[in-house]
Amino acid sequence: MTATEPAPPLFELDHAVVTFRIGSLLAGSRLVAVNDVSLSLAAEKPEIFTLAGESGSGKTTLARVMLGDQAPSGGQVRFQGTPVAEVIRAGGHKAFMAEVQPVFQNPFETFNPLRHVQEYLIDTALNFRVAKNRRQAAEAADAALRTVGLSLEEVQQRYPHELSGGQLQRVSVARALIPKPKVIVADEPVSMVDASLRMEIVNVFKRLRDEEGVTVIYITHDLATAYYISDRIAIMLRGFVVESGPVEEVLDHPAHPYAQLLKESIPEPAPEDKAAWTRQITLGATEAREFNQAGCKFASRCPSVMERCRLTDPPDFPVGNRQVKCYLYDRAEVGDRKP
Ligand SMILES: Nc1ncnc2c1ncn2[C@@H]1O[C@H](COP(=O)(O)OP(=O)(O)O)[C@@H](O)[C@H]1O
Ligand SMILES: [Mg+2]
Repeated sequence: MTATEPAPPLFELDHAVVTFRIGSLLAGSRLVAVNDVSLSLAAEKPEIFTLAGESGSGKTTLARVMLGDQAPSGGQVRFQGTPVAEVIRAGGHKAFMAEVQPVFQNPFETFNPLRHVQEYLIDTALNFRVAKNRRQAAEAADAALRTVGLSLEEVQQRYPHELSGGQLQRVSVARALIPKPKVIVADEPVSMVDASLRMEIVNVFKRLRDEEGVTVIYITHDLATAYYISDRIAIMLRGFVVESGPVEEVLDHPAHPYAQLLKESIPEPAPEDKAAWTRQITLGATEAREFNQAGCKFASRCPSVMERCRLTDPPDFPVGNRQVKCYLYDRAEVGDRKP
């Protein structure tokens, strides 16, 4: 690359698709868990990018694609300009994982209940070769723990169950930080944690962005914390990103009827209102029917549904700085409508 060329995006999804075969080979059908998703994360500017949506909307599948654990069935997924599969083929999965680290929902499942938590951190440092010996590994563990507001001294000789869910989730963020990744993909990191402790974890993500230059993919159905920490948000519905853009624009004035419904199901985000944090959106279980229906996946529930919504998937239409997958924002449609 010459000096005049701009750096490629840190991460780029270009019409990514993931299709699963469900049911038996003969009677089975296909389920498009990630459908035509495009997004780009800039290399120069670390950000917190939220993926939100009800259970079964494809968030974890998209996370697995970004972590290199799930190959896309279509489209491209590039890390720093190179397809993830190629990055892994050339340098190995561990080298890719050193750049892109996961944080999972349940910290008690991340750690072996029979081992002191510091052993896990020390092993991680040795495994990723950020330390040559146990003493250096302990130093790396302590540095990572301090980034999340803890220290090796505080967790030393403690078993996972001896820490609170909030503390243990911060330890698992510290573990993810040890190889000094550029990206952290956190899949519902606060949903198992007491509402009163959620802020201490999401504040860690803010600090990672602001002080460590780490880009965070924050997956959640908690729009309140998403509003509080994110720069941008993408709302997923049945595999599609139906609305994406700056978090204030999307959550203050959602354009897509589904985003409007999501927002109505939680109180106005108010960081000072503790009770509001405890509320979550639960819109019911996965409806495979919606995945497989033609056209917009929200058509059967949408108060503004039009004939063509049931026929063809809407493309993305620009609304301000947002992209909205809804025919209401088709200029022709707006022009056609009576005032
Ligand atoms: N390995 C798989 N095989 C078949 N279907 C899957 C697989 N993984 C996920 N799915 C389906 O894909 C859809 C999206 O799942 P997921 O990505 O876990 O959503 P979310 O994280 O938003 O709850 C769901 O209907 C789920 O059942
Ligand atoms: Mg999930």
